[in-house]
Amino acid sequence: MKPSDIIEIDTSGGYDAWAAGYDAQDNPMIAAVERHLDTHRLPVAGARVLDIGCGTGRTIARTLTEGAAFVLGIDASPKMLARAAERLAVPIAAGRTALMQIDIARPWSGVPADFDLAVITLVLEHSATVSPILDHVARHLAPGALLFIAEIHPDMLRTDLGGHFERDGVTYSLPSYVHDREEFGSALAAAGGDAPMFDEVRADAATIAAIPKFAKRQGDGVLLTLRARRRA
Ligand SMILES: C[S@@+](CC[C@H](N)C(=O)[O-])C[C@H]1O[C@@H](n2cnc3c(N)ncnc32)[C@H](O)[C@@H]1O
Repeated sequence: MKPSDIIEIDTSGGYDAWAAGYDAQDNPMIAAVERHLDTHRLPVAGARVLDIGCGTGRTIARTLTEGAAFVLGIDASPKMLARAAERLAVPIAAGRTALMQIDIARPWSGVPADFDLAVITLVLEHSATVSPILDHVARHLAPGALLFIAEIHPDMLRTDLGGHFERDGVTYSLPSYVHDREEFGSALAAAGGDAPMFDEVRADAATIAAIPKFAKRQGDGVLLTLRARRRA
């Protein structure tokens, strides 16, 4: 890809522009998160779930299907939230889910503080630092609640584009920052979390067979996940 084919775009403008095509895209990172969640289920049955950076509501739909009692999705992009509202019209009408426009890097207003589970998938790369966000998250979890994070692997972010989309032959690249395990660990400790359990997906033979777009990353880490509980 030639540098002249890439246009840098800010995060909120980028997701508003990406929203219409987001779910139709063959996105290997989304496939990696889905595949990980298929084999490492979250404890959603009966839970109150907070989906942070919920985008078009894919993970909200998943957790509702798996038996969550209630899911609140928060996101900064009005157009991503509009797609989520279309997808989730039935559970919203039934009071099982709600959506709020929140910039997670700023103080949160109006978000309840009693969630059993928080999920963050493919969001934190857009923030220069994770500490203030994880501090906000911890304040909205019940004692002992679980936080699950899945992000593009730091090794991949160091050598490839982060979040990006293509339109009319042009690649639009959103701001992207690397966050290592050490940063997550110290941010969680400061926010009142237990030591996180990390897992990673590498582009091994099984992953490439399932997600062929990772063939060019053979052997590399492609997804980093963590689970941590808020201290009781
Ligand atoms: C790659 S999408 C992921 C969406 C969804 N979590 C998923 O896995 O499909 C990233 C989402 O994070 C949201 N986001 C990024 N930075 C944000 C911020 N500071 N506040 C709220 N939402 C943010 C974007 O608007 C976008 O919807």
